[in-house]
Order: sequence, then C-alpha cells, then structure tokens
Amino acid sequence: MPLQRDPSLVPLSHDHHDALLRVFHIRQALRAGAELDAAATATRQFFARDLVPHFRAEEEVLLPVLRTALGAEHPLLAMLVDDHRMLERLARDLDGSPQRLSAFANLLERHIRFEERELFQQYQGHVPQAARADVEAGVRRILNRPAGAPKMCDVPEDVAPLKWRER
Ligand SMILES: [Fe+2]
Ligand SMILES: [Fe+2]
Repeated sequence: MPLQRDPSLVPLSHDHHDALLRVFHIRQALRAGAELDAAATATRQFFARDLVPHFRAEEEVLLPVLRTALGAEHPLLAMLVDDHRMLERLARDLDGSPQRLSAFANLLERHIRFEERELFQQYQGHVPQAARADVEAGVRRILNRPAGAPKMCDVPEDVAPLKWRER
C-alpha cells in the first residue's frame, strides 16, 4: 500500500518526483552515450532553478522542526545536510563526463529515496500536527508555490502529456 504523504510535505514530494525524472533523463543519455553535454546543461539548470530553493526549504523550515522533534544529534539530520553539500559540489563540477553525470544521478536518487522513505516517515511519526501548517506555509513561501498554483513542468511530452500540473 502506498504511503500517505502529509499535506505539509507534498510540495517537497512533487520536487522529488521532478528530480527522479531528471535522474531518468540523465541515465537515458548515459545509456545512449549521446547528448551528454545537453544532459549536463539541463541538469545544472534544474539544480539552480529547482533544487537550490528545495534544499533551502528543507534546511530552513524542515530541519529546525525535525531538530526539535528528533533531537539535534539525530544521525538522519546530519545526513540530510551532508547530502546537500555533496550534491552542490557534484552539480558545480557537472559536465558531459559520464562519470560525473552518473555520480550526480546516483546520489540524487539515493538522497530522494532516503528522504521519502526515512526522513519524511520520521517527520510524520514525530512532528506534532500543530507545527505542520507552519511548515507547509514556510516551504511554499521559499519555493514560491502558493497552494493550488500551477507550475511550469519540464516533463517532455512523451513522458507526460500535461505541460501544467496542479501543485
Ligand atoms: Fe534534500
Ligand atoms: Fe528533498
């Protein structure tokens, strides 16, 4: 049975979906051995436009609430921040090199699975309901994504026919 995502985490989970699509496209380019420079450029653009604010929302809004709920020394919290710093370094060095593209894609995928399966489960188990509305408001403010606002979607037409999705 699929896990129910708390509404306050839904904007972040939408970003995770987009990030996994980016991983899919990187791997497609790697398999074909073609368009690697284009894949690197698209990935750097995705990083700057989507992942920079996404990491900021997680670190400025989610992290303080999780520190209170789980304790500041909880190992999952250090992992969140360490992964972000490593992904930033890998994104900065990204070019058409297959090794760099696959290192970035592998870590991004692992990081998202870690957040969805472990970190968000901890959040849903330990962060009080009363704190969650503020989390959602803070995340949406940083992502500049008011509730119900459509967001331009990058997904190519052969992957998803809709150019716009409700966020
Ligand atoms: Fe993250
Ligand atoms: Fe995330």
